[in-house]
Amino acid sequence: MTLETITLTVNGKKVKREVEPRLLLAEFLREELGLTGTHIGCEHGVCGACTVKMDNRSVRSCLVLTVQADGAVIETVESLAAEDGTLHPLQQAFSDNHALQCGFCTPGFLMSLVCDLEKNPSPDDNEIREMISGNLCRCTGYTNIIKAVKQYSKEKVANDENKPIVVKS
Ligand code: FES
Ligand code: FES
Repeated sequence: MTLETITLTVNGKKVKREVEPRLLLAEFLREELGLTGTHIGCEHGVCGACTVKMDNRSVRSCLVLTVQADGAVIETVESLAAEDGTLHPLQQAFSDNHALQCGFCTPGFLMSLVCDLEKNPSPDDNEIREMISGNLCRCTGYTNIIKAVKQYSKEKVANDENKPIVVKS
């Protein structure tokens, strides 16, 4: 099988590898890079468990061939927490609101939501439902996920309002 050379940036690090053209991005992240936070559920674009950020958009990494990600900037769930283990505020809100049980779906929810919340930091309930409509969870019933998003959104808006305005001289 002919291998293709690809170069991409994953969680801030440049990665160069030779890969089979048929290799899925989800498999590449998990098996080649050991980033097993990206989960594979349905493997055909339905459950959202494999969602990652690719060039600032959320994508289902089970529907992307690794060769299609050549040159892209990828962020996985491992990029969210700080190096000292401090959770990203959205992860903290999930924890505070018991928005996960088995946790299998959680990386996908988090990565879908971080992308959508960048565009709309103050969603109403319907918009939150829309944001998570592409992710399936078999445990939580979604109510606590919605609560977590609302907590995150409230805290983010409050923090942004309290930020000092920097005046350039
Ligand atoms: Fe990709 Fe289900 S594993 S959408
Ligand atoms: Fe188990 Fe969502 S927490 S599938």
